[in-house]
Amino acid sequence: MSQSQKSANALLSNDLILAIETSCDETSAAVIRGGKHILSNVVSSQIEIHERYGGVVPEIASRKHVESITLIIEQAVQESGYTLKDMAAIAVTQGPGLVGALLVGVVAAKSLSMALDIPLIGTHHIAGHIYANELVHDIVYPCMALVVSGGHTELVLMESEGDFQVVGRTRDDAVGEAYDKVARALHLPYPGGPHIDKLAIEAEESIVLPRAWLEADSFDFSFSGLKSAVLAVINQTKMKGLVLNEGALARGFQESVTEVLVTKALRAVRQFGAKQLLLCGGVAANRGLRAALTARCESERVPLLIPPNSLCTDNAAMIGAAAYLKLKRSEFTDLDMKADPGFSLESWSVGGSNQSTIK
Ligand code: KG4
Ligand code: ZN
Repeated sequence: MSQSQKSANALLSNDLILAIETSCDETSAAVIRGGKHILSNVVSSQIEIHERYGGVVPEIASRKHVESITLIIEQAVQESGYTLKDMAAIAVTQGPGLVGALLVGVVAAKSLSMALDIPLIGTHHIAGHIYANELVHDIVYPCMALVVSGGHTELVLMESEGDFQVVGRTRDDAVGEAYDKVARALHLPYPGGPHIDKLAIEAEESIVLPRAWLEADSFDFSFSGLKSAVLAVINQTKMKGLVLNEGALARGFQESVTEVLVTKALRAVRQFGAKQLLLCGGVAANRGLRAALTARCESERVPLLIPPNSLCTDNAAMIGAAAYLKLKRSEFTDLDMKADPGFSLESWSVGGSNQSTIK
């Protein structure tokens, strides 16, 4: 039987996907049914290891992925109650991410795909963050996604399922990156986002900081000026021999970030006629952002989807949810595909050019 016939038969008999995610500092594997139901989602975080260096050390991340990937995959398959042979496809994060880290997942996925003769689906990490929403909600199109993670800050329009158009992006730091840098300047542990969030929520005062609106009609973002403003406050306070009100600074920073994100996201929803706003990525766990976006969407009657925190940070279930878009359409990836640190989201749209379609 040819590979394509086998794949077609497998599709008829089940729609299970084994998904693998190793783009940064989480080694994760999951089994997903029908793009919606999580049968297992095993996440092994390396945060404790990278914490002592104040950020992710790519070399160490790759080594740790190599050490744990096989066990994590075995555990995910076992917890699902199925076997590897039952899978209709093997999905893996192809990019963006750290190249050495991505490679570990890609090599594991290719090996399984080849050995078991199961189709491969190279998957876009940000599509995964967006489709994490489909694991807990029903996405309605056209919709707008606000992607806020350690490496990305983007507004993505989806006119239909799996059709990605980036309408706004950061021109410098990603929002999570800005959080982590500000946290580092305040000597808080890595990753700093949750620590700044906690300080900000508990603070009674706020230091007013600038908002980077850019051109009036732009959906782009910029956070490096805000980060510099935070550093200036820290330095000036030190030079004057004063005690820094860290809570007030964290709150001022969070208010600036949140106001810009919320205002631009809602403007994009209106301009492009989106029926829903989807929040996703690691920074979607931010309590200040969730609260502000929830309040604004309620007052403007815009349905807002946010995944639970466990599906906001990197995990393989979200990769399985996105890969299902391709499985449904039998759009598979050639075995000679390469891990791609700069993988373009738009090129990963369904019906795009980066896949081999098995008919
Ligand atoms: O999506 P993610 O897990 O990894 C990437 O793909 O980048 O996002 C990680 C980022 C880190 O920068 C972390 O500080 C940030 O998400 N983060 C937060 C919060 N929880 C995680 N930032 C602000 N507030 C939080 N509560
Ligand atoms: Zn991520």
